[in-house]
Amino acid sequence: MQEMLMLLLSLIALSAVNGQTFHFGSCPKPPVQNNFELSKYLGTWYEIEKLPACFEKGNCVQATYSLNEDATIKVLNQEVLPNGKTHSIEGTAVSRNLEEPAKLGVSFSFFQPYSPYWVLSTDYESHSLVYSCSNVLGIFYVDFAWILARTRTLPAENVTQLRDVFTSFNIDITKMTQTDQTNCPNFM
Ligand SMILES: *[C@@H]1O[C@H](CO)[C@@H](O)[C@H](O)[C@H]1NC(C)=O
Repeated sequence: MQEMLMLLLSLIALSAVNGQTFHFGSCPKPPVQNNFELSKYLGTWYEIEKLPACFEKGNCVQATYSLNEDATIKVLNQEVLPNGKTHSIEGTAVSRNLEEPAKLGVSFSFFQPYSPYWVLSTDYESHSLVYSCSNVLGIFYVDFAWILARTRTLPAENVTQLRDVFTSFNIDITKMTQTDQTNCPNFM
């Protein structure tokens, strides 16, 4: 029991250090995009806002999705680091639940388990709301959220509307921050 408590405390400390957001209880279960069509979702999405994630400190963050030959999805994340260098990382996304195709999983390493990548709402042509939540020991959860767009910026009123969607699903986005998408290079 004491080991359990120690483990829990260190996990909380770790997530706090990483700037992640954790909450007691279990993950909210928001609805996802109806009739999600992966083929229309492929292509490049720009990060407008995110719920803090320490592994993405850069600006000009973008993600490009394309199909691999084995029908998994190739994920190419690109950004400009604070030192001005461009950085990219490749991963794989899979859709494992045919009944809920909007619930994808993404992994950036062979050794890393797939993290949830749920498309809560998208019109495929302008915006996408993505949510990722993991329960830890049935005691607390750590979550991430992204507002993505097909353009590097969105009108402020659209961002407000999109934020309201998360909130209406009981997702706490008070720690959401805007991603700097100015003076961005054309990534290859
Ligand atoms: C902004 O919101 C309006 C109203 O919902 C919509 O018609 C328009 O397409 C949106 N613009 C973008 C770039 O998403």
